[in-house]
Amino acid sequence: MSRPRVSLVRGLLDQAAEQLAATGVASPRFDAEELLAHVLGVPRSRLGLCTDMPPAAQDRYAHLVARRAAREPLQHLTGKAPFRHLELDVGPGVFVPRPETEVVAGWAIDALQATKRTGPPGATLTAVDLCTGSGAIAASIAGEVTGVRVFAVELDDAAHAWAARNLAGTRVTLVHGDAASAFRELDGTVDLVVANPPYIPLEAYDGVEQEVRDHDPALALWSGDDGLDAIRMVERSARRLLRPGSGLVVVEHADVQGESAPAIFAATGHWSRVRDHTDLADRPRFVTAQRIRP
Ligand SMILES: C[S@@+](CC[C@H](N)C(=O)[O-])C[C@H]1O[C@@H](n2cnc3c(N)ncnc32)[C@H](O)[C@@H]1O
Repeated sequence: MSRPRVSLVRGLLDQAAEQLAATGVASPRFDAEELLAHVLGVPRSRLGLCTDMPPAAQDRYAHLVARRAAREPLQHLTGKAPFRHLELDVGPGVFVPRPETEVVAGWAIDALQATKRTGPPGATLTAVDLCTGSGAIAASIAGEVTGVRVFAVELDDAAHAWAARNLAGTRVTLVHGDAASAFRELDGTVDLVVANPPYIPLEAYDGVEQEVRDHDPALALWSGDDGLDAIRMVERSARRLLRPGSGLVVVEHADVQGESAPAIFAATGHWSRVRDHTDLADRPRFVTAQRIRP
């Protein structure tokens, strides 16, 4: 009995997955499929229906697989990153949004919706995304909660340009500047501040994946020896921005900062209900707190 013939596409896929596995890519099969779907211009779920591939597309696929094997991030090669209901444009110069941040954005969205339900009917809420990067969190809030004014700030030139691209046509007001001093005109009026700031301790450098170290912008990653400098800055900005007595803050942190990040808020005496939360992998991931009345 003759063996079933493996299609050209299936063969290229198997070969690519092997090549990626050999260089230590964490999800070789998934990445091989995503790149192939990108080259063929079809959703990954339809790859099984593709059997043939023109030579020019084969060359393009081989080139992208080689770049991924050299540990360029998958999202830089496809130019897209999924985030909640969105697909964001990403590339060199901007932090690739991560699945764990979807949970942080989800907490912010749920909190805004709960505030709307319990507040005066028809009131407009205000939310601020400090350190917006690609604009992922701000765009999600604007897309998922009605009746909210959304503001976002980004310091880095290149990241700001990506945010401008992703936030074009949304209700988000984007500012190019420093989260430490941004939006002074909103002081004391904001209902929710959200941030995924840089938080990796410099001392953790050797343990960080090559894709991250070499391709995510340095300003998006590192934040002093203990990784907490930007979270301290976010605490100070959230303190001045939030509405006393009700405003909420939500800040992402590293999994090793499940005690040290909440401690920054607890130590100041300006916050109540300081709580830490886990991500989908059950690792400590973000702190929330409520601004008390001075
Ligand atoms: C970890 S990335 C997160 C980006 C985005 N919020 C996300 O979740 O994908 C942190 C971002 O903060 C920006 N950033 C760092 N320090 C900043 C500051 N002082 N003011 C504004 N943005 C800052 C970095 O350039 C980077 O884009």
